[in-house]
Amino acid sequence: MPDTPPRLLAFAGSLREASFNRRLIPVLAEGAEAAGATVTLVELRDFPLPVYDGDIEAAGMPGNVRRLQALLGEHDGLLVSTPEYNGSMPALVKNTLDWISRPLEDGRSGTTLFAGKVAGIVSASPGPLGGLRSLLVLRDALAKLGLLVVPQQVAVGLAADRLPARGVLEDARMRESVHAVGAAVAAWARGVGRAA
Ligand SMILES: Cc1cc2nc3c(=O)[nH]c(=O)nc-3n(C[C@H](O)[C@H](O)[C@H](O)COP(=O)(O)O)c2cc1C
Repeated sequence: MPDTPPRLLAFAGSLREASFNRRLIPVLAEGAEAAGATVTLVELRDFPLPVYDGDIEAAGMPGNVRRLQALLGEHDGLLVSTPEYNGSMPALVKNTLDWISRPLEDGRSGTTLFAGKVAGIVSASPGPLGGLRSLLVLRDALAKLGLLVVPQQVAVGLAADRLPARGVLEDARMRESVHAVGAAVAAWARGVGRAA
């Protein structure tokens, strides 16, 4: 069987310019790429969506939902770096997942875009725990959508010190751990996770 590189869709769950999670997601992508994956990194600010409202959906699915559904359909897995808001994932992340899960143009459920795919999750926060609680909630939400979420995960605390710029994680051990999350997703997406 040819070993085609797994394609992974990556995003950070924050819109702000100086976001620590926007700085961290390229590090996760780097780990996946080093393990042979192809990563498409998107910015959610390029896909602005209203808060989910069934009336908006009934009036016509927003174009950005269709764009995100199409993108996910072209990929084998997800990489997400999420902030923690009040002990949970931000509304932005949940709202994005909820919109994507809505019916496709051909009538199939949007959840079919997630089912059986692989995800890797990390978080970053200026606090000491790094947003760890958001990972528990996000893991659960992604599993509910049918994704296999790899067991490895990293919460980068004290992010103001550790993430000075985009793609730069200064703590070497933590950088290795984030790379390992990406590598595990690449391995599982190729169906060889148990050998990773
Ligand atoms: C509404 C709100 C709630 C927050 N709650 C938490 C929290 O529970 N735990 C935490 O570590 N940080 C919390 N923070 C601080 C965020 O971790 C911080 O704003 C972080 O920089 C957001 O991620 P970003 O840098 O990627 O935008 C909260 C921030 C906001 C705006």
